[in-house]
Amino acid sequence: MTTIPKTQDELYESAEASLPGAGLGGYALPEDLRFIVKEGRGGRLISVEDKEYIDYNCGAGATIIGHDHPEVVEAVQARVGKGMHFFGTLNDAAVELAEVMVDAIPCAEQMIYTTTGSEASAYAFRIARAVTGRDKVLKFEGAYHGNHDYASFGQFPTGPSNYPLATSDIGGVPRALQDTMLMAPYNDLEMVESILTEQGKDIAAIIVEPIQRIIFPKPGFLQGLLDLATKHGVVLIFDEVVTGFRLAYGGAQEYFGVTPDLATYGKIVGGGGPVGAVAGKRELIDACNPGRKGRSDYAYINGTLHGNPIACTAGLATLNVLSQPDFYKNFHARADKFRAAFQSILDAKGTGIMVPGEASFWQFLATEHAPSNQMDVLALDLDKSKNLDLALLANGIYVLPNVRRFFSAAHGDEELEITLAALERVLK
Ligand SMILES: Cc1ncc(COP(=O)(O)O)c(C=O)c1O
Repeated sequence: MTTIPKTQDELYESAEASLPGAGLGGYALPEDLRFIVKEGRGGRLISVEDKEYIDYNCGAGATIIGHDHPEVVEAVQARVGKGMHFFGTLNDAAVELAEVMVDAIPCAEQMIYTTTGSEASAYAFRIARAVTGRDKVLKFEGAYHGNHDYASFGQFPTGPSNYPLATSDIGGVPRALQDTMLMAPYNDLEMVESILTEQGKDIAAIIVEPIQRIIFPKPGFLQGLLDLATKHGVVLIFDEVVTGFRLAYGGAQEYFGVTPDLATYGKIVGGGGPVGAVAGKRELIDACNPGRKGRSDYAYINGTLHGNPIACTAGLATLNVLSQPDFYKNFHARADKFRAAFQSILDAKGTGIMVPGEASFWQFLATEHAPSNQMDVLALDLDKSKNLDLALLANGIYVLPNVRRFFSAAHGDEELEITLAALERVLK
């Protein structure tokens, strides 16, 4: 029996009925620009209407080698048909991926699986609390560490903050948790030092995105955090959910030369499938050892899908591609070429928009100076960059408005030419 595929309009009619805002939760594109994906191919997406997009969203960073890389497809196809999931005992793919990750990640002596990057940060907080016996976590304003309640403080500020008070503007987050979260502006070591001096004895962890969205660390910032954290007996957590295996094979730790106590992972390590992890020093990760059950320093971590064999297989195949000699050198050189080409068109048209970025990170911002914290970002003309993003989207370039975006290794000269032509068109 053959079924006639639904049209995009029919699918949206169905989505309007079954999904809030006809979306997946976080984003709703304008009705005239939204589309439903039927396929990802290399650096492109194909909608159910057969419209092609150059994909700079890259699965929110998960698909660093493009969609359906042949080596990943082959590995996953070989695995499918041997069981979708097991629980309570190890599987071979999970063990192999853990070995590869622990070898690659500078701070990792051991790691524990999660299903997502959000779970990884929630569990990293738990481990830090269990080991230090302290409750509070210091984060940076505007940083994203996932969707759980603790991460939902200081996430989307809209105006000046009363540091170190972290507030949440998201419904459903218990006010009682506010006392456990503290917040400082990114790149402000002085503020971190004064918070640690006043409250260090109550602070279990500092969590930082080594590159916070599209804001880059000032020289010495990450090392300064490590020094302060060490001085005050606080666990330093790098959120490497985005930067892990993207900035370098050893992630931000290798790229910036700073090794934290713990690091959280997601996205790339599952090759587009659901894998997350917390990696770090043995004495911290061992807090999750089930042999500690019943002790106050046992950080219980468990999840039905942790170590899913098919997702771990996709992750292993992806990391294998990334481990090839010169992968990052070539990838970053191509990214530099894209950014420079975008910038030269924007400059030639006198738009006043810059393309901040490094490695495979980029975005459009209406400024001449890269921002150094979230308040700098809020002070920009965000409507201007949003309008450019939406115009590009209408021209087959998939970027989410004012959201940091990526290059993948599947973005080549053809993708560059198509993007430059679209840029020229919209700037006319
Ligand atoms: C830096 C960072 N941490 C954590 C997360 C949460 O990961 P997940 O969406 O897999 O839960 C994200 C997601 O975008 C992220 O960018």
